[in-house]
Amino acid sequence: MPTFIKRTVFTLLSVVTVITVLNVSNATAAEPLPNLAPASHDAAKVMGAESCKKCHESEYKAWSMTMHFKNHERIVSAAGQQYAAKVGGIDSCAACHSTPHTATAKFAGTAGVSCESCHTPAGGADGWFELHSNYGAKDMKREAESAAHRTQRLAACDATSMIRAGNTYALAKNCHSCHIVADEKLLQAGHKPGHGDFDLIPWMQGEIRHNFQVDQKTNAESPSLLQAVNGTTAAQRKRILLVVGKMVELEVCLENLAGIDAAGLKEGYAGRKGWAGRAEEAFEFLEDEIAKAIKNEHVAAGISAVKDIQLGRKFEDQAGAKVAAAKLAVATKAFAASAGTADLAGLDELVNDLDKPKGKNYNP
Ligand code: HEC
Ligand code: HEC
Ligand code: HEC
Ligand code: HEC
Repeated sequence: MPTFIKRTVFTLLSVVTVITVLNVSNATAAEPLPNLAPASHDAAKVMGAESCKKCHESEYKAWSMTMHFKNHERIVSAAGQQYAAKVGGIDSCAACHSTPHTATAKFAGTAGVSCESCHTPAGGADGWFELHSNYGAKDMKREAESAAHRTQRLAACDATSMIRAGNTYALAKNCHSCHIVADEKLLQAGHKPGHGDFDLIPWMQGEIRHNFQVDQKTNAESPSLLQAVNGTTAAQRKRILLVVGKMVELEVCLENLAGIDAAGLKEGYAGRKGWAGRAEEAFEFLEDEIAKAIKNEHVAAGISAVKDIQLGRKFEDQAGAKVAAAKLAVATKAFAASAGTADLAGLDELVNDLDKPKGKNYNP
């Protein structure tokens, strides 16, 4: 059983609706930490971006100008049809190029990757939709909510597996599970192995950015709620993203390598080349750059979990990679949970090197 996030999709396409059941199970049973539930996608609970628009107008606008918004067009493009023909249909495309949902969801037109692809489906009797914005009484403002109520409300949201901005591990894992393609059949059909240059800081600072919660007119450099409530500055946020992003990238590559079909271990194989080379680069960045710039026990634990695996072109140790990925996940979660107040200022030079936004951010 491969350890990467497994997206199993059964799709039924008709002219007006896309009815999909999507099942995601995270086989890496790392110790659960508060606020770090793994991503899950239950298509029946998807409400659709139109359900968010009333309260998140600027976030909606920003999203509608991204590539994610019209991402589903890839599925039916000429190249898409070729891949689909080779893998026997478009079912497996939906998880990455759209938001699998049932007929109850509200979308204007067909949906690409949308709010609930990243923050998890919101609906259902036990979903976070009603919970997440309930300050305790009708028309109450955020500032008036009691601290005890806020703690309870956020814990209840986290229990539904909502991915909030503060949950950097789950956020990053989710981006990487789409941006690094793990499906071997797809790769054999000629599909690209994903974005080789994907890195959290540049990719989150450009067209994706929608940090409007506190002020719908200002697209803040980092989540405005985190700044207002926890005092997390944009500088600290980026340092955290740098480390978590690199550790998660390494974890996802290791998981993919562990799950590879033995025949795929041959050198010329697209997935292996992408994952093993990428894992090696991510490891070197962690060891030679990040760990030299800061002293941190969780980063050190992550490095020692992986250091005995031969990465790059000579990779073979699939069993070792599986164990290493699981240990690394524990270290990354522990880092993320403690990073808010950690001294990470030594990373600023590395952050600055990466701070080249991918696309333009939307400003009302
Ligand atoms: C009735 C208004 C309302 C609707 C509808 C609504 N939200 Fe929210 N949302 C809020 C408020 C208010 C907050 C700020 C909560 C806080 O202060 O913790 C918020 C916060 C959030 C956050 C940030 C949470 C965090 O802690 O980082 C996300 C993500 C979010 N909403 C996503 C959505 C999505 C996706 C939808 C649609 C499925 C949606 N919201 C629908 C009012 C709403
Ligand atoms: C694991 C996530 C994932 C799945 C599953 C997936 N894709 Fe993609 N797809 C991506 C990513 C990431 C890119 C961008 C890669 C790049 O540009 O280097 C992409 C790019 C594409 C492109 C544009 C680049 C090109 O090769 O022309 C097409 C077309 C495409 N995908 C079609 C499909 C089809 C059809 C399926 C299903 C048979 C599918 N994809 C399944 C993640 C995925
Ligand atoms: C459900 C799958 C999925 C998730 C989750 C996801 N993406 Fe994407 N994203 C894609 C695909 C597929 C493309 C490629 C679109 C194309 O080439 O048409 C893409 C494109 C992008 C682009 C535009 C790239 C360009 O060439 O301009 C950015 C930026 C981006 N993603 C950032 C992110 C970030 C940051 C996250 C996590 C916070 C994330 N994505 C999460 C599937 C996903
Ligand atoms: C590609 C993944 C992705 C999509 C799609 C997405 N978000 Fe987000 N969202 C994020 C990430 C990542 C952050 C934290 C950004 C950061 O750290 O700069 C975030 C932050 C937020 C916040 C907190 C902002 C703040 O100022 O505190 C809200 C609210 C939110 N998103 C709502 C939405 C809504 C509503 C939609 C759909 C219209 C949506 N998001 C679509 C990934 C996504």
